[in-house]
Formats: sequence, structure tokens, C-alpha cells
Amino acid sequence: MPNAYISGTGMHVPERVVTNDDLREQYGIDTTHEWIVQRTGIEQRHYAPVGVGTAELAVPAAQQAIANAGLQARDLDMILFATLSPDMHFPGGAVMLQRRLGVCDGDSPRFMGAMDIRNQCSGFLYGLATATAMVQTGGCKHVLVVGSEIHSAALDFTTRGRTVTTLFGDAAGAVVVSATDEDRGVRGWWLGADGRHVDALKMEIFNTAKRPFMEMESTDGYARISPEMLWPHMEGKTVFKNAIERMCQALMQACWEKNTQLEEIDLFVFHQANMRINQYVAKQLNIPDSKLIHNIHKMGNTTAATIPTLLSEAVDTGRLTRGMKVAMVAFGAGFTWGAALVDW
Ligand code: UT7
Repeated sequence: MPNAYISGTGMHVPERVVTNDDLREQYGIDTTHEWIVQRTGIEQRHYAPVGVGTAELAVPAAQQAIANAGLQARDLDMILFATLSPDMHFPGGAVMLQRRLGVCDGDSPRFMGAMDIRNQCSGFLYGLATATAMVQTGGCKHVLVVGSEIHSAALDFTTRGRTVTTLFGDAAGAVVVSATDEDRGVRGWWLGADGRHVDALKMEIFNTAKRPFMEMESTDGYARISPEMLWPHMEGKTVFKNAIERMCQALMQACWEKNTQLEEIDLFVFHQANMRINQYVAKQLNIPDSKLIHNIHKMGNTTAATIPTLLSEAVDTGRLTRGMKVAMVAFGAGFTWGAALVDW
């Protein structure tokens, strides 16, 4: 059985920076820089321009990961696309990214599989686990795993929505997972979910239990949607508490099953939902600050993109190098969570 390792990383962050003060001054949200920094650690986030969708945002990240792996897009055997903010309800972002990568065109087109993963903040780790399994079973040699989000298109930019709106930013990150005979790569992954909490963090938009799925406003096809269904809803304190518990458990389970001490891990890559969540997890597990990396202060919570953007930054800055032991962990809506141990 081959090992599965991360052969390339890439990321893309849209140019426009929106500071906490901008949320107040440009959008009129009743908030303060101090409140947001104190409760979350977020100082700014990036928003993509109008006209750019989630799959398009992922293109530079994917291209960078593919190039860093020493590959071309047509060498891929599978595209996995994790997002909670897809371009449209269907089809998914993976096929849209595939089209933008140009692999279906030309004299020798490639029509590799393309699949969406809908596991919110844990989406990237669900994707990494899926890619690892696909590579280890011999079905694929190179799998692209992307996390891409455009949150700014669907946030309530009024004071009513401030608790959620201030948290999120737009970004894309990508890795290529490749087969190798070398003794390295993804040593294990652990995924979990607790469907009892589906309502704690959700964005309904429409409801297929209704007939029709959205209240019709008139006979000419326009529909009505209430703010509760239109915008994300979050029970912040429940999410906060469960995130700490589940992230600690997932990391401890990973280390226990792989007979690895937490002290042996060189770099911890935590999902970036709230700096305070990560500080609690680190404190409970006695993880020193020096082994943690963050980008929440400058990017906010970018959901499925947090872990691949952190990996990409860490590789580019020399913080993450061959031979290091890496632990990743994430928690998000669903609830869903995941962890992975990687010998880089
Ligand atoms: O990736 C997974 C997704 N999300 C998370 O992991 C988030 C987990 N939860 C959290 O990080 C925290 O619950 C938040 C940072 C979102 C909120 O912090 P909190 O300490 O739970 O605040 P709260 O929602 O209980 O609100 C406390 C007060 C309220 O005012 P009143 O009712 O006490 O007068 C809010 O209206 O703070 C107010 N508030 C704000 N004030 C200024 C909420 N959001 C804001 C804001 N600016 N942005």
C-alpha cells in the first residue's frame, strides 16, 4: 500500500482588506475593534470583489499547489472541493474548478472525478481523509484537495448580524495529496460528527420540507425568504464550548491511537474560528505557543480554507519543513470535527 503525502500547497487571498473599523464605518455595524479583538482575536479579513465566485477564487490556490507538487492540472486523478459557500446550489464547486483549470479542453482532455465536500470548517480534513484513502487504496496517484469560501456574499451586514458577520473572511487554500513509497505522509485521520447540533450553526436559505421549498411571492416566480432563513444562524456559546471539547478529544485520540506523545509534535495546525478557542485547547493540552500557527488575526475565520492556507503559509515561510510531525484539528457546523497526523 503506498503512503499518501502532501506534495504541494497553495493559497489565495483576495486583495481587499476589511478592518474591524471598516465594518463600523463603511457598513454601519454597531461594533468596535476592541470587542472583536478581545472576543475573537480578529483584526481584519479579506473580501473578494463582486463577480468572483468560490470556484474562481480557488483557481490560483489550486494552480500553486499543483505547480509546487511538480505537476500539471491534467496529472490529477481527482478533485475534492470543500466549501460551505458554493457558487450555486448545484452543480458543485469541484466541477466548476475543473472547468477553470482547463483540463477538459484541448487535444487530450482529462475528465478526472470531481466531488464536493460539505462539512464546513472540518471540510478540509474530511477532504484530506478522503484523498488519503483514495491514494492508499491505489485508486488515485494525485488528488487535489481545495478549501474555498466566499463568505462576504452571504452575511447580514446590519447590526442584527454582527455576531456572525464580524467573524468570517474570504480565502482559498489547496494541497495535492500524492502517492509515495517513502516512509512519510498522512499517518492517520479521525473524523467525527454529532448531528444533534445541526441547528446550532446553520444557514437554511430554503427548506425542502416545504411545498414549494420557498414561499412564493407572486405567480411570476419571485419568492420570499425571511431573514432567519436567509442569513447564517449561530448559537455562539454552544459552538464555542463544543469546539474546545471536541478539538481536545480529537487530538488526544489521534495521539493515543498512533502511540504519539503530544510533545513529539512539531507543529499544530488548528482551525481558525476564534483565537480564544485555540488558546483554551492549547492550554488544556499544554501545547506551547511556539508550536502553534495562526492566521485568524489577518484573515478571520475562512472555514474550509483555514487549514490549507495555514499549511501553505507555513511552507512558504520555512516554518514547515520536511521531516516535521504535524497535527491538524478542526471543528465546525454539524457539528463535525476531524484531526490528522502527518509526517511532512
Ligand atoms: O468555525 C466554527 C464557527 N464559529 C465559532 O466557532 C464561533 C464560536 N463562538 C464564539 O466565538 C463566540 O460565541 C462569539 C465570539 C461569536 C461571541 O462571543 P460571546 O462571548 O459568546 O458573545 P455573545 O454572543 O454572548 O454576546 C455578548 C454581547 C451581546 O450583547 P448583550 O446582549 O450582552 O447586550 C451581543 O449582542 O456582545 C454583543 N455582540 C457584539 N458587540 C459588538 C455580539 N457580537 C458583537 C459584535 N460587536 N461583533
